[in-house]
Amino acid sequence: TRVLAVGSEIFPLLKTGGLADVMGALPQALKAAGVQATTVVPGYPAILSGLRNATAIYHFPDLFGGPAEVLRANAASLDLLVIDAPHLFARQGNPYLGPDGKEWPDNGIRFAGLSAAAAAIGVGLVPGLSFDIVHAHDWQAALTPVYLAFHHGRRPGTVLTVHNLAFQGLYPATLFPRLGLPDSAFAMDGLEYHRHVSFLKGGLAMADRLTTVSPTYAREITGEDNGMGLDGVLRHRADVLSGILNGIDDSVWNPATDDLIPNRYFRGRLGPRAANKTALQQRLGLQESPGSLVIGVISRLTSQKGLDMLLDQIPFLLANDVQIALLGSGEPALEEAFTDAAAQHPGAVGCVIGYNEPLAHLIQAGSDALLVPSRFEPCGLTQLCALRYGAIPVVARVGGLADSIIDANEAALTAGVATGIQFWPVEPLALYEALRRMISLWRNQPVWQRMQRNAMATDVSWRGPAAHYTGLYESLMAGRA
Ligand code: ADP
Ligand code: GLC
Repeated sequence: TRVLAVGSEIFPLLKTGGLADVMGALPQALKAAGVQATTVVPGYPAILSGLRNATAIYHFPDLFGGPAEVLRANAASLDLLVIDAPHLFARQGNPYLGPDGKEWPDNGIRFAGLSAAAAAIGVGLVPGLSFDIVHAHDWQAALTPVYLAFHHGRRPGTVLTVHNLAFQGLYPATLFPRLGLPDSAFAMDGLEYHRHVSFLKGGLAMADRLTTVSPTYAREITGEDNGMGLDGVLRHRADVLSGILNGIDDSVWNPATDDLIPNRYFRGRLGPRAANKTALQQRLGLQESPGSLVIGVISRLTSQKGLDMLLDQIPFLLANDVQIALLGSGEPALEEAFTDAAAQHPGAVGCVIGYNEPLAHLIQAGSDALLVPSRFEPCGLTQLCALRYGAIPVVARVGGLADSIIDANEAALTAGVATGIQFWPVEPLALYEALRRMISLWRNQPVWQRMQRNAMATDVSWRGPAAHYTGLYESLMAGRA
């Protein structure tokens, strides 16, 4: 099976969130399962500068307003096709936002360009390259299955994976004539959405198969509360929609071999973890007390992540000898609130604003618990890393958080299978109850350590998920044969 994946970010070259982790790790896991995966990405400066063996294999005289090359290249054992289109992608910094923090005004054209190029490659633009499946990820690539649906002649099967329904690629109808699609695409069963152009809706309406990144999120988004206005489309296509839980790259996230942490450890030898905790406390200016419970947070700071609710719990936590180690960036108001909290409670609340890969590893390796109180969470990767690193996840019972953590309720504790703590509804009182539960479990160290060992024994690798994707590709190909 030959799969052409399409998406806008890929770890380790360019990452703003979990999408990049998935784009970087899934192809390798698929390879191990016998699937050949090639990935189309935009030629952002950060991507171009990370390529090895790049060779131009196709020239577009005019890709949505300028010339472009398709580069074939490798990076970190990934097979890439890079759309080097300077007029669309040669911009420094965040891939979606200009220096003013606002979306680039031509984002619609930029990602139509990515999708159109990928669709063309998918149907054999480049001699010698052909594919059975084209797998698009998120709104930036969501027009790919739309272009393919209107292709005359044989085309590969199409899959669209939704990593976050909150980002849809919504534009004024005036964009439509510039997309190069037939008029019939601007319709209820196409990409028309309340007289606007919606990239994601187009993909949801026209891809052969739809997936999202956890079974619970797949159910949630077909309901009005979590459908972000697209639940109708999703219900209409429920027969082709499924949820496949993400994994994490267990060569990047492995406490036994991790070069980014001061002391390596594994499930059978947790001792060195204590020294990582001390290192973390030093790094964040926290009091070096081994007995204090350290809660880690590694997150984008947006309302999705629910961290505003943590601010109100700080007095309660401090009264119970709990420390907070937060790494995050995002909405200025939240950045400021956590910076203020750290200033007000020196030694007990530590925060680093920014994006910092090594510190993310240290927080996983040194915290006792990791908090993810998201209002919605398609999958969530930090709680999967936390399982692997033995930081007990304390999570909202939504989306992939619900699917990846076994709550320490009476039954699970008795059976000895708990791996973390869940709360619901996603409200301050329920969060408070969860933190209270966390503290009482912490005071019973044998039970806590049992949870830690369970957490670390959980399979969070890509092996299982890759098998699900392989099965999906095969059934799609069989259905079209
Ligand atoms: P989302 O994609 O919604 O932001 P995920 O949990 O799926 O959430 O993925 C987030 C990824 O980004 C994880 O790999 C996490 O470790 C990483 N991450 C988030 N914030 C930071 C940060 N400030 N510094 C370093 N890594 C971060
Ligand atoms: C999105 C979601 C997150 C998910 C990630 C990777 O960014 O917000 O929950 O883990 O994509 O699929």
